[in-house]
Amino acid sequence: MAEKREHWGSKFGFILAAAGSAIGLGNIWKFPYIAGENGGAAFVFIYLICIAMIGLPVLIAEILLGRTTQRNPVGAFNKLNGRPFWTMVGGIGVLAGFIILSFYSVVAGWSIGYIVEAVKGTFYNYPDAASAGEHFDALVHNAWWVIGYHGLFFILTMIVVYFGVKGGIERGSKIMMPVLFVILIILVIRGVTLEGADKGLTFLWNPDWSKITSQSVLIALGHAFFTLSLGMGAMMTYGSYLSEKDNIPAAALEIVILDTLIALLAGVAIFTAVFATAQDPAVGPGLIFRTLPVVFTKMPGGFLFAILFFLLLTLAALTSAISLLEVVVAFFVDEMNWTRHRAVLVFGFITFLLGVPSALSFNLLADYKLFDHTFFDVMDFLASNILLPVGGFFISIFVAWVWGLDRAVVELKKGAVNLFEKHAGIIRSWKWFLKYLSPVMILIVFLYSIGLIK
Ligand code: TRP
Repeated sequence: MAEKREHWGSKFGFILAAAGSAIGLGNIWKFPYIAGENGGAAFVFIYLICIAMIGLPVLIAEILLGRTTQRNPVGAFNKLNGRPFWTMVGGIGVLAGFIILSFYSVVAGWSIGYIVEAVKGTFYNYPDAASAGEHFDALVHNAWWVIGYHGLFFILTMIVVYFGVKGGIERGSKIMMPVLFVILIILVIRGVTLEGADKGLTFLWNPDWSKITSQSVLIALGHAFFTLSLGMGAMMTYGSYLSEKDNIPAAALEIVILDTLIALLAGVAIFTAVFATAQDPAVGPGLIFRTLPVVFTKMPGGFLFAILFFLLLTLAALTSAISLLEVVVAFFVDEMNWTRHRAVLVFGFITFLLGVPSALSFNLLADYKLFDHTFFDVMDFLASNILLPVGGFFISIFVAWVWGLDRAVVELKKGAVNLFEKHAGIIRSWKWFLKYLSPVMILIVFLYSIGLIK
């Protein structure tokens, strides 16, 4: 191997980096609006069950595969099994990382663009939902605007990954995650102290069980997966920089708690403000870029809070994007003997280029459709609805049935002896969930998301 494998400087650094991967657009943009559309508290309750019974077990499995093999996803499967099929499963993960990053960065770029809009005070020119929506459409119709910020976001991502696991990702996460947390707390305080905030809290916390359908359960499950960055080896790659003295189940639990906490806080910050300013909570994906700018123009101090909010969104996206790029980089470093610097420069650039048609899907290429969907939608669908569930399914199957739980447990015990002695029941449930529940549930979500079951 060209370079000695890097490791995290501390377990805390790993937790922040992994939580940074998990906490992203999924928490701050997607979670609030799907919770809003699917019955508020009732949905949150189901989501928490999915996180605990499927998200956490698979997260532990991924980190474990990484730590045991000290490799990227392709190398990890290769080392433990070596059959071409399993190497290919690792390859699907690397491919998914490459694809997700390409379009994730486009949305993250809008977020940087919106920091600039907020600083310029532009939102005050569009004080109602209709005109704010038109303003958003006008911005994304401008190809240079979208590609420019997509490129800027890419450069930021590449800089962090360029400096390595400890000097780049860990150091960056140790700065960005606390800032993110502080900003979110400020926004929550602003939200709950607005007049009329209680309506937002009621919306979020009063369960409306009538809205829970089998479809909302599947949405909760799919999101539990996406929000924890599972199914493609991102957590495996981060786990591969861990050492044997770290307690994986405890670390995974901390990551899950942080991720869930941030999603819930984002929901509180957003819905208190949306209700206090009498805006429509159920607009779906447009909530952040079409509705919130109006919300900020109507609240005291909104100028500043708008800047903070889009900064928060950008930081969350950045710490996720670096984990996606790291998967691709780790593959080229481990398997192709490239240097990290070369992998970052070459694949950063190629992934940026793959993102360009996604960026153009909102303007120049808006009319070019494949099965009635733009390039952006196709990439999103391919990654989120196909590659991730397929990857997650095979990761569970691999650990539980191919590599085998007996071997897995020997590895899991390293760094967690106490847990095994005092809470053997937890380990037993982990085995059961991974062996039966997660593969079956993931398969159901997959069949549903590609339309084979309704
Ligand atoms: N978890 C991130 C979010 O909530 C998205 C993400 C980052 C991701 N890395 C991933 C999703 C890997 C799946 C796989 O926004």
